[in-house]
Amino acid sequence: MEIPAELGRVLVIIPTYNERDNIKSIVGRVRDAAPSVDLLVVDDASPDGTGDLADALAETDEHVKVLHRTGKEGLGPAYIAGFRWALERGYDVMVEMDADGSHQPEELPRLLAALVDADLVIGARWVPGGKVLNWPKSREALSRGANTYTRLMLGVPLHDATGGYRAFRAATLQKIGLEGVDSRGYCFQIDLALRALRQGLKVVEVPITFVERTHGSSKMSRDIMAEAMLRITRWGVEARTAKLRSRR
Ligand code: GDD
Ligand code: MN
Repeated sequence: MEIPAELGRVLVIIPTYNERDNIKSIVGRVRDAAPSVDLLVVDDASPDGTGDLADALAETDEHVKVLHRTGKEGLGPAYIAGFRWALERGYDVMVEMDADGSHQPEELPRLLAALVDADLVIGARWVPGGKVLNWPKSREALSRGANTYTRLMLGVPLHDATGGYRAFRAATLQKIGLEGVDSRGYCFQIDLALRALRQGLKVVEVPITFVERTHGSSKMSRDIMAEAMLRITRWGVEARTAKLRSRR
């Protein structure tokens, strides 16, 4: 499957924190699956040397770039730095992809094909045709629960608002405006989806098969879950209050 030429220049952004055993494989798979796209690894000074490995890959392949950050700040700030880097360099499409193989590069052409007729494409697990391989039941319950809570609280028509395999048009990020985004953990994904919907943009979910990592460990934490709960609740309450005010 070809990447639609009309989309323009595509950059796949891969945030990394301690992904030493995954970085080479994911970069190679993206290069094979979509030879025309560029890659940006955004590394938060991983203590395990992921950043150095990424530099070595960049040295032998001009499609591969690395953005080094000074410390672990969370997924949100890493992606925002990557988006800014891409906007400054005139990319037309920015793709979010995890480094651990959970988001299969082989599915990227399908996501990008859907972007031809959308402003944001979300690779979704909890839709017909979507799958998750090798996740413990507890993790599935957490993800489904977070998505149900998001739908009820925020009234968004999405089934996988936390999904992190996505394709944005540059114009979508410009309309969202990245200045006000301060979500740090995985609720960053919900934050951006919500902002896109509120801008009246077309957000489309495409089924994906999410494959749990076999190397390294998840960075999901209590803090990340707490931030998500708190923010979803706050966004929901704010939206309801604003609605009530506008009725008066
Ligand atoms: N630079 C940087 N800084 N990268 C980070 C950080 C950080 O603070 N935290 C996590 N990452 C990177 C990881 O190295 C990996 O490449 C990617 O972000 C996803 O992290 P995982 O720790 O593998 O996430 P997960 O598998 O538990 O969570 C998945 O599900 C979440 C909830 O649905 C991901 O797909 C998330 O994107 C998704 O929100
Ligand atoms: Mn993962």
